Parts: sequence; C-alpha cells; structure tokens
Amino acid sequence: MSLGRTGIRLFTVILVGKLFLQTRTEESPSDHLHQAESLLKPTVLISVLARNSQHSLPYFLGCIDRLEYPKDRIAIWAATDHNVDNSTAMLEEWLRGVQHLYHSVEWRPSEQPSSYADERSPKHWSDSRFTYVMKLRQAALRAARRLWTDYILFVDSDNLLTNRHVLSDMIAENLTLVAPMLESKSLYSNFWCGITPQGYYRRTPEYIPIRKWKRQGCFAVPMVHSTFLLDLRRRASQELAFHPPHPDYPYHLDDIMAFAFSARQAGVQMYVCNRDHYGYLPVPLKQDQTVEEEEESFSHTLTEALIDYAMEPSQYVHLIPKESGKMGFDEVFLINLKRRTNRRERMLRSLAVLGINTVLTEAVDGKALNSSQLQAMGIDMLPGYKDPYSERVLTRGEIGCFLSHYNIWKKVYICVYVAVLVLEDDVRFEPRFLSRLVAIMDNVMRADLDWDLIYVGRKRLQVKEPELWVKGVSNLVHPGYSYWTLGYVLSLQGAKKLLHAKPLNKMLPVDEFLPIMFNQHPKDEYMQYFPQRDLRAFSVEPLLLFPTHYTGEPGYFSDTETSTIWDDEAVETDWDRDGAKRRHEQETEELGFRAVAPHSVHHRVPDVAASGYRDEL
Ligand SMILES: *[C@@H]1O[C@H](CO)[C@@H](O)[C@H](O)[C@H]1NC(C)=O
Ligand SMILES: *[C@@H]1O[C@H](CO)[C@@H](O)[C@H](O)[C@H]1NC(C)=O
Ligand SMILES: *[C@@H]1O[C@H](CO)[C@@H](O)[C@H](O)[C@H]1NC(C)=O
Repeated sequence: MSLGRTGIRLFTVILVGKLFLQTRTEESPSDHLHQAESLLKPTVLISVLARNSQHSLPYFLGCIDRLEYPKDRIAIWAATDHNVDNSTAMLEEWLRGVQHLYHSVEWRPSEQPSSYADERSPKHWSDSRFTYVMKLRQAALRAARRLWTDYILFVDSDNLLTNRHVLSDMIAENLTLVAPMLESKSLYSNFWCGITPQGYYRRTPEYIPIRKWKRQGCFAVPMVHSTFLLDLRRRASQELAFHPPHPDYPYHLDDIMAFAFSARQAGVQMYVCNRDHYGYLPVPLKQDQTVEEEEESFSHTLTEALIDYAMEPSQYVHLIPKESGKMGFDEVFLINLKRRTNRRERMLRSLAVLGINTVLTEAVDGKALNSSQLQAMGIDMLPGYKDPYSERVLTRGEIGCFLSHYNIWKKVYICVYVAVLVLEDDVRFEPRFLSRLVAIMDNVMRADLDWDLIYVGRKRLQVKEPELWVKGVSNLVHPGYSYWTLGYVLSLQGAKKLLHAKPLNKMLPVDEFLPIMFNQHPKDEYMQYFPQRDLRAFSVEPLLLFPTHYTGEPGYFSDTETSTIWDDEAVETDWDRDGAKRRHEQETEELGFRAVAPHSVHHRVPDVAASGYRDEL
C-alpha cells in the first residue's frame, strides 16, 4: 500500500493529536513507564583541592553549587593543606552546608604544617609541593575508583565554571579524557597544542584558532590541565596516574606533566572542547608571585566573569566584605543612567570585587531634555560643529553625556576635591587595575608633576606620530587627539579650567571638548572658541580601561578588531563615542541646531594604543 500525500498529512494530524492529549493528561500510565525506565545520570566525583584560596573559594564553590546536574549523583572529595589563610574554615563551612545535597562528601583537611620546608613563598612550586599535589590528586582518583563513580572531574579551586551545563556537556562528548576550554584575558587557557622535548609548553599554529573559537569542536591535544573530566568506565583509564610517576617519566616533577605522560603511555587521547563558553581561569603570574598578587589576578578573572555572567559567591559560605577604598582619591565617581540598571549592577559588582568604593552619579538623560529646558540652561551648540562621520549635529545623548561630566567637574570645584577618578559605566578593567593606577598616581606625586587630567581609558585617534613619554614618570604619555571618556583622573585645577572655559553655550561632544582644552584638536575652527587651552593632560600607557562592548569574544579583543564593534549599529550605548553610533541616532535625535561651517572628514584610524595583551604561556 502506498501512502499518498493526504495519507501522510492525516498521519501527522493523528500524531499531533496524540501528543497533545498526552501533555494534557499529566500522569498517563505510559509516562510512568517512561520515567521508570529512564536512566539516572552517570555518577561523578568532583575533586576539590584548595590551598591559600580564600579569595577564590566562595565564587568557585558558587559555580559548583549552580551546576545543573543532580547533586545526589555527585560525590565531593575535598582536601586542603599548607594554608596561611582561611581556606580550611571556608571549605569546611561549605561542606557542612551542602553535604546533605550530595551523594557523599570526603574531607581531608591538614592544617599543619602551614608551609613546605623548601618553598620560597606560599605560591612557589617547590619539588615537595609538586610531589604533595601529585599524591593528593592520586588520592582523589583512588577515592573515585573506590566509590566506583563513572567519572571524576578535576577542577582547580580558582577556575570558575560559569556554564551550568558544563558537566553534562562534557559527559555528552563521550570521550575518555576531556577538558572544557576555559578563557582568560590573555591567550592563556587550560590546554596545550604542543610540547617541547623537555615536556613543557610549546606554541603551535593550531592553538590560537582554537583559543579564539575560530575553530569549534573537540580537538585532540597533548595536554589539558586545571579542569578536566575523566571517564573511569573506560578500560584504559585504569592505567592513568599522577603518582607515582610512570617508570619512564622523563621530565621535571610536575603533576600535570606526569598525568599527561601516563595518558600517553596508556594510549588515552586528551581532548579540549570549545563548542560553548564554559568558564574562566586566572592567568598564572610569575613562579614566585605573592598571595596578594594572586588575589589581584583572581579578582580580575572574577570581574571578567562578572561582566559576562551573573557571578555570585556560594550561599553556603560566609563572606567577610572586602574593605573598599577610594584608591587615594577624594572620590571615585561612577556615571550611570538611571534606566541602565544592568550596567549599574554589573559595575557595582565588579567594583566591589576590586575593592573600589564609588559614588554613584546619576547621568543626565539627554532623551528626557526638551528644547526649552536646554534653552533655559543656556545650552547651545558650538557654531559649525558637525559630526566628522555623519555630518550631523549634536544629539541629545551627547548633551546628556556632556552634562553628566560637567556636573562632576562642578562638584569637584564646590567640594574642593584635590583629585578624583571619574568612571563611565561600560568599562572593562585591565588586570591589576587598582595597583597599577595607584602606582602611577604615586609616581605622579613623587615626580611633582603639574597635572590637570589623566586619561585612564580613551581611544587614540592621532596615530601617525608616537606619543611622547612623560619624563620621570613611568607608564604616562602626553596624549594626542583622543576620543572617549571611559575613565580619567581629574584635579581641582583641572576642574576649574574645564568650567572656566564655559563650554555649555558652545557645546560639542565631551570627548571632543577635552582634546581642545589640551590643544590637541585638529580643527582650528573649533579651538578658536576656547582661547585658554592649557589643560595639563596626560594618559596612562598602556591603558587600564577599555569598553565592555568588545565582548563578542569574551575575554579577548585586539586593537584591530575594535573598530568593527563600533561599526555595529545595533550596539546600544548612551555615550556617543564615535561616528558609527552617532549615525545611528541621527534620525531620531536631531535637535534643530543649524550647522553652517564646512567640515573635513576624519578617517577612522585603528586604535594602536599598546594594550599589553601578551601571550602569557
Ligand atoms: C574564616 O571563615 C569562616 C567560615 O567561612 C568564617 O566564619 C570566619 O569568620 C573566617 N575568619 C576570618 C579571619 O576570615
Ligand atoms: C561512546 O563511545 C564508545 C567508545 O568509543 C562507543 O562504543 C559508544 O557507542 C559511544 N556512545 C555514544 C552514545 O556515542
Ligand atoms: C519641557 O519639559 C518641561 C519639564 O518636563 C515641561 O515643564 C515643559 O512644558 C516642556 N516644554 C515643552 C515645550 O515641551
């Protein structure tokens, strides 16, 4: 019998009807049967090794809490040792709070000694530390084998698994040994594509396309570390070990190298997967980094994760709020539009993690201002001002932005603040933002530099000639023509100069106004309206703030790629930094100012400010 078209359609209708009926009757007998026969999830042991990681533990554990995986199919194996901080108490508190949720919990604290005899600092990897860690990881592996769990997940206590599906996703890959690719601000990640004869990392051409998601999938690699999943049901997994190292192990003692070697000997291929974004890991600094340096590096990883995900610490850990400061400034202002709640919350969370105490300053909403109000405030456009890209005049957004900054300058003046930091609400902090900026300001003071304004984040437009370094102060340059007001340090004297220029009745975008004030604007016809152009402006170099809108590839962006983001007219921003955005608002936001002077077109130039991204491997 042949089923004609009508037949197929009829069949489909019946099927759909049946499905519909089934969803309507919630407890049909076949559902029961189906549930009873469905498989439970595979069992997993999660190995948690923590040492001196009180700064990362609450967030690390928060990620474990939020994994979408049945907790009664998970066993926790936790160990901590050689601590000088509060890691033990913290981990214990968490285990007490969650143990009833998990299948089982094994706890191996070891309070004494608090350091290794042969280590130079708490972060130094001495031979005895390597050996101890290898033994600990081996103990976790033994525990998983004893419990007969299907899998063991190793995850370092400063790796943030922000993707709640990471465990299910890795299991679904059906591989013996697999790591979710983790990201960091630099190119650093938890896999290698090449190995030197000594067993160390070697950069190969395959690495970057994978790390930047240009190629997506699961890739056979010679090394994964920090976070990875091992399928213990595979026969070959039985031969894998951290300790003792394989009899033929030829390299320097190292837990990840020893494990990778045992995998190679057993014929087990390591894989790294980047089908999705799975989480973050901090970039290791030097071998002998201090606990504080590590803490700061982690804070940065955390703010990156905060930007892309709502990261919360574990509810089972009691957090002592970090003491926030103002970095030595009289005030740190954060400009935020009231209706931009997401940005505000993200920035406040990031600033709390960085330990920076800010005053929230409500931005002037240009969209809410009408012409009569503008007239009442005496606001008028600079005669002849035209946007260099679109040829159109000032937008309400630009006016609101200008007024927001202007109000802060007034406040600095009225309150007689010696120095303040002004931040917009869509910035990304560079690693060690706080200590680097504090160091620069210390040097500025020590050098007795006469300064009014210091850019912390900007877009450099004049790139033909190099900017000169400031003599006697490292990481500071004399800026040329620049856009953006992401963040800057302002002195009382600087605020006075900006106010005395009386910019309201000859307004142009605030990021065009500043270069005029330090006499670096290319258009004389604008500069002539401001005869006093003696603002002593400087810029930190490399820059310490970048816009958040580069998150097309979270965790990485390059200078040449920046322009494309700003060409994306779909990206919403209140702060008109640049022509692409200005074009976007042109239709809706014309104010009726008459533009008269002819203009010369500026060509967009790539931002070449050194960004300091190196491959840290
Ligand atoms: C250490 O951690 C425990 C548990 O989280 C907490 O109750 C205690 O206050 C912490 N102590 C210090 C000195 O941080
Ligand atoms: C998983 O991998 C094993 C071994 O390669 C294979 O036998 C099995 O069919 C795979 N399972 C699925 C669901 O692909
Ligand atoms: C402008 O806004 C103010 C305050 O909201 C209002 O009182 C005034 O009537 C408005 N003027 C015009 C012309 O819409």
